[in-house]
Formats: sequence, C-alpha cells, structure tokens
Amino acid sequence: MSTDRVWFITGASTGFGRHLAELVLQKGEKVVATARRPSVLDALVSQYPADRLLVLKVDVNIKQEILDAFAATKDKFGRLDVVANNAAYNVLGELESVPEEIGRALFETNFWGAVTVSREAVKFFREVNPPGVGGRLLQISSISGLVGGAGLAYYSASKHALEGLFESLAAELDPAWNIKVTLVEPASFATEGIAKTVWVPAHPAYSNPDLPATRMRNGWAKYDPSGDVKKAVEAIYNVSSLSDPPLRLVLGEVAFAYLRKKLTALTADTNKYESWSQNLQKDPRA
Ligand SMILES: NC(=O)c1ccc[n+]([C@@H]2O[C@H](COP(=O)([O-])OP(=O)(O)OC[C@H]3O[C@@H](n4cnc5c(N)ncnc54)[C@H](OP(=O)(O)O)[C@@H]3O)[C@@H](O)[C@H]2O)c1
Repeated sequence: MSTDRVWFITGASTGFGRHLAELVLQKGEKVVATARRPSVLDALVSQYPADRLLVLKVDVNIKQEILDAFAATKDKFGRLDVVANNAAYNVLGELESVPEEIGRALFETNFWGAVTVSREAVKFFREVNPPGVGGRLLQISSISGLVGGAGLAYYSASKHALEGLFESLAAELDPAWNIKVTLVEPASFATEGIAKTVWVPAHPAYSNPDLPATRMRNGWAKYDPSGDVKKAVEAIYNVSSLSDPPLRLVLGEVAFAYLRKKLTALTADTNKYESWSQNLQKDPRA
C-alpha cells in the first residue's frame, strides 16, 4: 500500500477524528485535519512537517468552508485518497422532549455536513485524482444508525439517514471510478463526545422513572464507556487498506450485541408476517 496516501478528516479536534489523524500521521501518511477551532491541533502542527499535515478550519455547517478545504487540499497535495466523515454531535432526549429546531440543527451537522463533504470527496476522487485511482470514503456512523433506542430519537435518525444515503451512493458509483464506501458503526467508546453530549429536560409526560430514556438520563453522569478508541481507529485504518472493503464495519462487542438483537427481532417479524404479503403482488420470482 502506498504511504503517499492523503487523508481528509472532519472533526479532528478530539475523539475518533483526532486519534485517527494521529494514527495516520504515525503510519507515515499525510493528513488534512479539519476542525472548527484549528488551534486545538497546534501540538500536531509542531510535531509534523508541513508537507505531511495541513490543518484547516472547517465547520461542516458552513458549505463554503468545506469547498475551500477541498480546494486547499488540491493546491497542497494534488491528490486525495481517503476521506473520513467524522464530525457529529449528540443531543439526547425523548422525541417529544427535544425542540424541533434542535433536531433540525443536529441534522444540519450530522447529515447535511456529511452530504456536502461526501459530494466533494466523490468529485475529487473521480476528477482530480488520475482516472481509476479513485478513493475511499469512510462515514463514521454509529450502531445508532442501525438500531434506534430510547432517548436517541434525533441522533439515531441522523445516523439512519446516513446509512440510507451511503448504501444508495455505494450502489450508484461506477466501478470504473474505483471509489469504495464504508460506514463505520461504533458503540460506547471513551471519547470527549460523552462529556459534550447534551440531555434536553424531559417532557412532563415522561415522568415514570422506569422508562428507559429516564434511566439513561439519570445515569448519564456515571456512564463510563469501555471502548478503546485507539484500537477502534486501528480497525478504521485497516479497513481503509482493504482492496475490497465492507459496506459496513461494526465496531465493538457492544455494537455487535445491539445488532444481533435487532437482526433476531427483524428476522422474527419478517418470518411471522411474510404470509400477510402473499398475493399482494405478482411473484417477483415468476
Ligand atoms: N464515542 C462513541 O462511542 C461513538 C459511538 C458511535 C458513533 N460515534 C461517532 O463518532 C464520531 C466522533 O465522535 P466522538 O465520540 O469522537 O466525539 P467527539 O470527540 O466529540 O468528536 C466529534 C467531533 O466532531 C466535531 N464537530 C461537531 N460539530 C461540528 C461541526 N459543525 N463542524 C465540524 N466539526 C464538528 C467536534 O468538534 P468540536 O471539538 O469543535 O466540538 C469533534 O471534533 C461522531 O460521528 C459520532 O457520532 C461515536
């Protein structure tokens, strides 16, 4: 694998994005590390030469900053190999508790920010890189993109939206472009994201202390996720190096437990109610 690869990472200030940027630099590759406050990356700037690390201000809510960052990447490196859509945040609370404008703002960052970055990434891979070189588009989604849960309504919806977007995008891309897409599905890793998470006060109707969202809200101060983010970014790095990467990379035992429970329930419902669909349509196999 080429060690000349150039990465573009959003939300590189802390957590997954920061650890991924550090790992890629340690591996000898080049990074365009983007953050809302670029000064938080000063330590990396003093550690790595300017021909390996470009730090740029990107708030993914500001489209022009995304476009400018891709233009600056082209000017500086003339190529781009891996784009990691990582920037996101979390507001928790029951659907009825979270004001609509807060839910819409969450989508602006978690979904629409990733949409703009992804469109620019695909265009760069196809039109700036030499024909057929392509690139890797990694979307840091969440197990909440595959499994909903109490208190997670808007966050989970924003990640579910990304799942549909990327699954569709992967089906649309011309194989000749050699652009590969992977959704990464972590659960419960220790990052700064836990402390940044905001819980919206509960709607008065949700006063039952035994409701799952209430229990999660009351226990949040003690929530201590065990996932090792350094190991997680090793797996993300490894998937970027596969010639035939999976569409989804589920990360961590907790994520697998949630996913298997969902698959079991989905399979059971599918089997139980399939007969209700008999004779509704022409048999697709006929
Ligand atoms: N930790 C987990 O267990 C877990 C589980 C599932 C999925 N994830 C996903 O992993 C990714 C990283 O989260 P994390 O856990 O590493 O939390 P984190 O440390 O809070 O990282 C989130 C990053 O996104 C950035 N960000 C937020 N809004 C932004 C905006 N408008 N423009 C640009 N950057 C913005 C943050 O920047 P600031 O420093 O400026 O706020 C930060 O760099 C997210 O997509 C998250 O949904 C994490």
